[in-house]
Amino acid sequence: MDTIIIRGGQRLSGEIRISGAKNSALKLMAAALLTDQPLKLSRMPRLADTRFLGHLLTWLGVKVEERADARLFLQAARIKDTFAPYDLVRKMRASFNVLGPLLAREGHARVSLPGGCAIGSRPVNLHLSAMEALGAAIELSEGYVNARAPQGGLRGARIVFPMVSVGATEHAMLAASLARGETVLENCAREPEMTDIAECLNAMGARVEGAGTATIRIQGVDTLHGAEWTVTPDRIETGAYAMAAAAAGGEVRLKNVITDHNSALWDLLRKAGVEITLEPGGVLVRRTGVLQAVDMQTAPFPGFPSDLQAQFMALMSLADGVSVIRETIFENRFMHAPELSRLGARIDVRGNEAVVRGPCALKGAQVMATDLRASVSLVIAGLAAEGETVVSRVYHLDRGFERLEDKLSACGADVRRASETGEG
Ligand code: UD1
Repeated sequence: MDTIIIRGGQRLSGEIRISGAKNSALKLMAAALLTDQPLKLSRMPRLADTRFLGHLLTWLGVKVEERADARLFLQAARIKDTFAPYDLVRKMRASFNVLGPLLAREGHARVSLPGGCAIGSRPVNLHLSAMEALGAAIELSEGYVNARAPQGGLRGARIVFPMVSVGATEHAMLAASLARGETVLENCAREPEMTDIAECLNAMGARVEGAGTATIRIQGVDTLHGAEWTVTPDRIETGAYAMAAAAAGGEVRLKNVITDHNSALWDLLRKAGVEITLEPGGVLVRRTGVLQAVDMQTAPFPGFPSDLQAQFMALMSLADGVSVIRETIFENRFMHAPELSRLGARIDVRGNEAVVRGPCALKGAQVMATDLRASVSLVIAGLAAEGETVVSRVYHLDRGFERLEDKLSACGADVRRASETGEG
């Protein structure tokens, strides 16, 4: 297993090109199941998660071809199987999103429940009730969801989500595109990925309106066709590198950024004393002075993303004063706190609140990545720490960050990957 070794204390200076958004790319890949024609995706991030989903789609009968220049071609000319086994779903929850497209296209599916994960129990009840509202009969047995569409296929419905869910909103959009009649989704997630997915579906011939607002209307169509689509930039990767620059100090220009996707972060970073200059297609992040503590609370978009909470906590451990961080999306998303404490951060966790007392002079140590976003928070802390930080369980990082060590090294960071035995 690999580790990431960071020698902290270098200021960053340079440019980082942001990849396509993992969370969008995964759902766009699932959309390929909705048509027998090719879906050609550009700016695809090369990540462990996109590979996992590629394996599942191949198993289901999709031809998956990686092409040069971050392009991925997918074609589900014929669905070979509507069964998604546990081993191919458990590694990554987003795999569960094949259920709706399979149901919509084939009329039935048997998909493993994704199970819990390190950041909480993460149920799929909202996904299942959306499929039921579209007319599917759902039965759970032996860890699997057995779903069957009514005669004539899924039918449009009005679905009011009892709570905002990114995954359930996306899943319902995918399935309803091929349902008969109109579907109205209310209390939808408004993350930029919704718009990306809806616009790609529309390029495939779907009729989806209102994505990015709380109400999405979908007029079902009989068939969808192929399309070419460019994945939206990854706002979480953007935020992570912005905070890396803020933590290490220096000046980093992030390119391929839609700056509106990170407004909540820019506001807080400015309050914390970081200079943020928004540019067309990019952002310049500069920090020369002292960081100031600010409070933060995660919230559905346009609020501060839960996926940037761990990175923000690492940053606040360097800031002057007390920062109270409240996590409102996931129940157990502070596992990075004890790992950050190993580097010298002073963090008290009480329920869904973490109190960070800075500034701390962080010192390198051995730490363990506990989940995807937590792992990058340890890298950020390591960049600002004195001496060597060794992050193990790097496979979490590889799920969501493409060539992290190359991107940071290009800005002058001393970051390298080594196998567990020690060689570089
Ligand atoms: C997605 C993102 C994840 C991000 C999260 C919140 C992907 C692949 N993952 O996850 O990186 O952190 O959005 O922005 O896109 N819930 C239920 N029942 C359900 C579904 C969700 O109770 O059926 C709860 C969850 O446990 C959580 C909350 O709703 O407490 C929000 O989760 P959701 O928005 O669905 O997150 P994901 O789609 O799983």
